[in-house]
Amino acid sequence: MTSRSPLDHSPSTSDSAGDGAIFSQFELAPGLVHLNHGSFGALPRTVAAEQERWRRLIERDPTSFFTFELPGLLRQAAGHVAKQFGGREADWVFCENATSAVNGVLAGLSLKPGDEIVTTSHAYGAVLKAMRAWASRREANVVVADLPVYLQNDGQVIEAVSSALGPRTRLLIVDHITSATALVLPVSLLVDHAHKLGIPVLVDGAHVPGQLALDAPSIGADWYTGNAHKWLFAPRGCGLLWTHPSRQAETLPAILSHGTDGGYTAAFDWTGTRDVTPWLCFGASADAHDSFGGSELMERNRLLALEGAEVLRDSLSAVASGPPEMRPAMAALSFGDAPADVHIPMSLRRTLVQEYGVIVPIHAFAGKIWLRISAQIYNQIDDYHRCAEAVRAAVRGLGLRP
Ligand SMILES: Cc1ncc(COP(=O)(O)O)c(C=O)c1O
Repeated sequence: MTSRSPLDHSPSTSDSAGDGAIFSQFELAPGLVHLNHGSFGALPRTVAAEQERWRRLIERDPTSFFTFELPGLLRQAAGHVAKQFGGREADWVFCENATSAVNGVLAGLSLKPGDEIVTTSHAYGAVLKAMRAWASRREANVVVADLPVYLQNDGQVIEAVSSALGPRTRLLIVDHITSATALVLPVSLLVDHAHKLGIPVLVDGAHVPGQLALDAPSIGADWYTGNAHKWLFAPRGCGLLWTHPSRQAETLPAILSHGTDGGYTAAFDWTGTRDVTPWLCFGASADAHDSFGGSELMERNRLLALEGAEVLRDSLSAVASGPPEMRPAMAALSFGDAPADVHIPMSLRRTLVQEYGVIVPIHAFAGKIWLRISAQIYNQIDDYHRCAEAVRAAVRGLGLRP
C-alpha cells in the first residue's frame, strides 16, 4: 500500500495494476489494467454498498416503496442532479441511459417526409442507427456532416456542421465528447449556429458527467443527455436528460406508461416497473466523485490521459485523433490500417484481456485500427506502458504491424 495522494499519477510502486490503495476501493478484479472507464465505468465499493442498501430497503415492502416513496425520492434525486449540473429539478429526468434519452427526443419529433436530422461522422454508432430508424419511419433523412477523421481545431467542426444544416433540418444531434475519436466538440458554438437557423439541438454528452465540468443549461441546447454511470461512478442504468422548459411539453420517453398524461417529469419517472436503484444512487455517486477530488480529479485524469497517449504514440507509432486541447480524460489513437478481416479488432481485445490482463477498446474507424484509452483515479502511468507492451506483443502474435 502507498501513502501517496490519490491525485498523484506518478508511476506506481505497487505490483498490482494502477495504485493498489485506490484500486481496491473499486469492485474491479485485482491485477486488471483497466483502461476502459469510458465504456461502462467502474463502481466504487461505497456506491455498490449504497445500491445494495436501497435494494434491501425496497425488498422490505416493494408495494409501499413504489406506491408511496418513489415519486418523491426521484424528484429529490433530480434536485441533486440540478445542483450538480445546473438548471431546476423539474428540468431533469432520469432514464436508463443516453441511448434511451436520445430515442425519447427522436420519438417526439414531428418529422414530415423529406425532413432531415443532422449529426456528424464522429457520432456514436448506436445513436446514428436510432436516428436512421426514426427518420425512415417518417420518410425523413439523416444527413451526416463529414468531419476530418483527425481533427485539428473547432473551426473544422463548425464548418462541416454548418454546411450540413439546411431548410429541411429539424434537429441537430452533436456529441459533446465523441466516442470513437474521444474529442471534445465545441457544442455551445454549434448550438448558437443552429439556433440562428431556427434548428433545435440535442447534445449527446454520454461521456461528460464526471469527466468535464458541466453546466448543462449554459450550453444553450434544447436537450442535453449524459450518463452518470460512466464518469460519475453511478451504477449502470443512470442516464440523465435535461430539457429546456420551452421543449418539455413535447418531450416524452420512448417507452410510454402510467406517467404519459402527467407531463414531462411524470412520464420519465414511470416507464414501467424497473430497477430504480441506479437513480437513487445519484447522490452517493456524486459524493464518491467529490471524495476522489471532484474538479481536481477531472484535471488529474485529463493530464494522465495526455501522458498515456504519449506513451502509446511513442511505442506504437500511433496517431492521436486530435490535438491535446480537444482531448478529455480519454484519447483515441490509430495505429495502422484497418485489417481486411473485420474480426481482428475483437480478437486483439480478447488476447489483450486473456493473455495480458489489459482492458482497452480496439475498433476499426475510417479505414484505420484504433485504440482508446481512458484515465481514471485507479490508473497510473505504468498502466499505459503495460498496455503498449501488450498491444505490441498481441499485434505481433496476430501477424500485424508493428
Ligand atoms: C457519444 C455517446 N452517445 C451515446 C452512448 C450510449 O451510452 P449508453 O450505452 O449508456 O446509452 C455512448 C456510449 O459510450 C456514447 O459514447
